[in-house]
Amino acid sequence: MKTIRNHNNTPLFDALKNYNKRNVIPFDVPGHKHGNGIPEFAEYIGKKALEIDVNSMKCLDNISNPISVIKDAEELMADAYCSDYAFFLVNGTSFGVQAMVMTVCKPGDKIIMPRNAHKSAINSLIISGAIPIYVQPEINDELGIAMGVTVENIKKSIMENPDAKAVFLINPTYYGAVSKMKEIIEVAHKNGLAVLVDEAHGAHFRYHDELPKTGIELGADMAAVSLHKTGGSLTQSSVLLLNEGLIDKNTVKTALNLLQTTSASYLLMSSLDVARKMLVTKGQEILSRVLKYTRAARQEINNINGLYAFGKELVGYPGVYNFDETKLGVCVRNLGITGFKAYDILRDKYNIQVELGDVFNILAIISVGDTEESIKLLVDALRDMSFKYRSSEMKLDKVALKNPEVIISPRDAFYAKKRVIKLEDAQGEISGESIMAYPPGIPIVAPGERINKQIIEYIKFLKNQHSMLRDTEDPYVDNIKVLGI
Ligand SMILES: Cc1ncc(COP(=O)(O)O)c(C=O)c1O
Repeated sequence: MKTIRNHNNTPLFDALKNYNKRNVIPFDVPGHKHGNGIPEFAEYIGKKALEIDVNSMKCLDNISNPISVIKDAEELMADAYCSDYAFFLVNGTSFGVQAMVMTVCKPGDKIIMPRNAHKSAINSLIISGAIPIYVQPEINDELGIAMGVTVENIKKSIMENPDAKAVFLINPTYYGAVSKMKEIIEVAHKNGLAVLVDEAHGAHFRYHDELPKTGIELGADMAAVSLHKTGGSLTQSSVLLLNEGLIDKNTVKTALNLLQTTSASYLLMSSLDVARKMLVTKGQEILSRVLKYTRAARQEINNINGLYAFGKELVGYPGVYNFDETKLGVCVRNLGITGFKAYDILRDKYNIQVELGDVFNILAIISVGDTEESIKLLVDALRDMSFKYRSSEMKLDKVALKNPEVIISPRDAFYAKKRVIKLEDAQGEISGESIMAYPPGIPIVAPGERINKQIIEYIKFLKNQHSMLRDTEDPYVDNIKVLGI
């Protein structure tokens, strides 16, 4: 990959190590004072980690107005991702998504987005007051999951909404599907719309030439990238990338400073610095291994009776222009069990934690931290499971929901008067809250959308499957908040 700077440098991590060498006597926060105030934790996680868990100070720069070591580290990150600017984030890509939408949309502005967006995107509509113009993602009925969006559907939405301000894209979807990004970006730009990309699951794309291209490489204006998911940095650490032109750097900075903590974790930020160095200097080599293992695993899994590890053969189906092979989705439908059940079996009987289970599939994420041995354990467990846990329990044949009808904007619904009713009585009501299985965190129904019979049946089904339902006031989802008094 082409970069301009010396990526062996880790300016922020070095500054932190230098600070630690000086044995500074801390009379600032955090109050654990290099771990002394929480000895049990320090002993478990290692004193060094707590010695560098410090707050902003002159020699360590400040996330809200970087002028020295954070600025240098962000510039290296921008160079690595081929963007004009990079902003470190310590509240995940969720915050990046919200900052992107806030930067581009004022209250009342329209934004075109697929309805299978993560909750952070739906929540960004509440925070910014933007109005969603949802595009139906393509559905793969065999797998029961949403794929990408088509150029035609985005084009149609733009033509029907010439006043829209931005197009929001997911690159790739949780399961690895990649839309025809370049063409969509070109169509959006031709019509004056900014392109914002949720790249929570694509942090590794830039670092191997056999992986799909990143949104920024293809000309998108902004992208929020979860380095912590597939790039090796610590949980919560992400970056927001900007290509200047349609969007001004200072507007982004203002949006970030509105919601961002004033005590950004140096552990998280310095892990971004080191992950970037690793990805630029060794990414091609590491990801070649990851791809080799994943391809071999896919082949082996596809030889197991009853299992289907989907991958690049989906390219060419509607909404799948490319596919991220490091997402190892396995359809367990022909074993006669649900993906939820397979997820539990793998965890309880084989000590294997996969990323998610849905109705027909499980999803394993293969990344920079995996080894040939760890992947072999997964394949062996799947083989054993396919013998021991076949069943005839599964009767469902179609699961993916169509976009619910939007009655009022998510923000108006958020601020509206609400009442709580039984879930089974909610048909026809307008939802006052989001309900989702997490992961993947895609709202089944969002504030302002009409609750239909299919939604109620689906939520009941998920409850029966002991799926982790989230974001409702009632933690057991027997009740639901709807609009009205
Ligand atoms: C598609 C998508 N976007 C955004 C996010 C939020 O990312 P983060 O966990 O880094 O806040 C997720 C999290 O799973 C996601 O799946």
